[in-house]
Amino acid sequence: MEYLEIKGQKPLEGTVKISGAKNSALPNMAAVILTDEPVVLENVPYLLDMFTMKHLLEHIGVEINEESEGKFSFMFREVNSLEAPYELVSKMRASILVLGAMLTRFRYAKVALPGGCSIGTRPVDLHLSALEKMGARITVEHGYIIAHAPNGLKGAYIKFPKITVTGTENIIMAAVLAEGETVIENPAKEPEVVDLVHMLKKMGADIKGEGTEKIVIKGVKKLSGTSHSIIPDRIEAGTFAVISALSGGRIVIDNYPFEYLEFVHRTLEKIGVSVIPLGKRQALIKKEEKLKPISIETKEYPYFPTDLQAQFMTMLSTVEGLSVITENIFENRFMHVPELKRLGADIKIDGKKAYIRGVKKLSGAQVKATDLRASAAMVIAGLTAEGTTRIYDIYHLDRGYENIDIKLKSLGAEVHRGFEEQ
Ligand code: UD1
Repeated sequence: MEYLEIKGQKPLEGTVKISGAKNSALPNMAAVILTDEPVVLENVPYLLDMFTMKHLLEHIGVEINEESEGKFSFMFREVNSLEAPYELVSKMRASILVLGAMLTRFRYAKVALPGGCSIGTRPVDLHLSALEKMGARITVEHGYIIAHAPNGLKGAYIKFPKITVTGTENIIMAAVLAEGETVIENPAKEPEVVDLVHMLKKMGADIKGEGTEKIVIKGVKKLSGTSHSIIPDRIEAGTFAVISALSGGRIVIDNYPFEYLEFVHRTLEKIGVSVIPLGKRQALIKKEEKLKPISIETKEYPYFPTDLQAQFMTMLSTVEGLSVITENIFENRFMHVPELKRLGADIKIDGKKAYIRGVKKLSGAQVKATDLRASAAMVIAGLTAEGTTRIYDIYHLDRGYENIDIKLKSLGAEVHRGFEEQ
């Protein structure tokens, strides 16, 4: 079993570069299904999830070539299969992103039903009911979603009862080639959704209102190829902001997407951490001598992202006083709490709320990475704890953080990957 071992409390210094956003690269890669012309994506991060999406697209029939570092070309001339098999979907729920694109272009799609996962039930009912409104006939058989649209998808009025990021992206992709107009009310406004729309517009899609309360899409007959550069990963940037604040604040963060992190910065200010722009995309993090406890609620963009909740909880676990974190997006996204407690944190959970009473220090221990963002929380804990922390199940980390151990080593952290026979 692979693990990551960290010797804590080393002062970190230097420059770290933020990679392309995982949550933007995934839908943009799925969007190549919508055209038979070449698409080139740049700034694609090298992550396990990217390789899962690459395998899925190749299985469907997309030819993919690596042109240079982070630059990939995609060409979808001939369909090999309109099925997303269980072995790939079970590795990554975001595989569901190919459903809308396959269905709208080929009038058929079969996608394994993503199962429950460690951060809650995460159903896809909203994706399916919206596609049904667009005329799809959907059945779930033997663990597969089977969707037909024999006469093609039709534009429809869709009001999401709850905001869903990949749900919004799936319906946008379905609507760009559907007949007529689709209106999506209450869509996700995340920068990654907006980035997908930017790429689709370059391909010839007619979309208005991305990033607002209402998106209007007029279907077109055909989309062309394009080239597009993936936006920087705001969650990786926020994670490094926390790491920098806790390790002396001498890290310069490059490719830093200030514009996507305004609410996070206001939260950091309240704790006593400020983000200083050194250039258009370069940040330095400064922290006050004594940090302050606060209350945080996770909420859809532009508010505090659930994907930074675990990292902030780790930071607050050594801030004197009582902090409260309310997790509103996912049930069961406190799986990192028992692990933080193994390091000495004092945290109590009551339903959606976690009460964090700051302790003087964390002390190194063996812990598990329980999901993707929880794994980043364990890295932060390991960097700040006294002694050595060994993190197991780090495949979660490799799903979403490009070369995190290499990046940390370059800043002076004592980190190494090891392997242990089970
Ligand atoms: C995306 C992100 C993930 C992030 C999450 C919330 C990607 C690839 N992943 O996940 O990193 O944590 O947004 O910001 O972009 N829901 C339903 N029915 C549905 C769909 C969702 O009830 O059909 C619920 C979910 O259980 C959850 C909430 O809606 O409680 C939000 O989920 P959603 O925005 O869909 O998350 P993902 O798109 O899976």
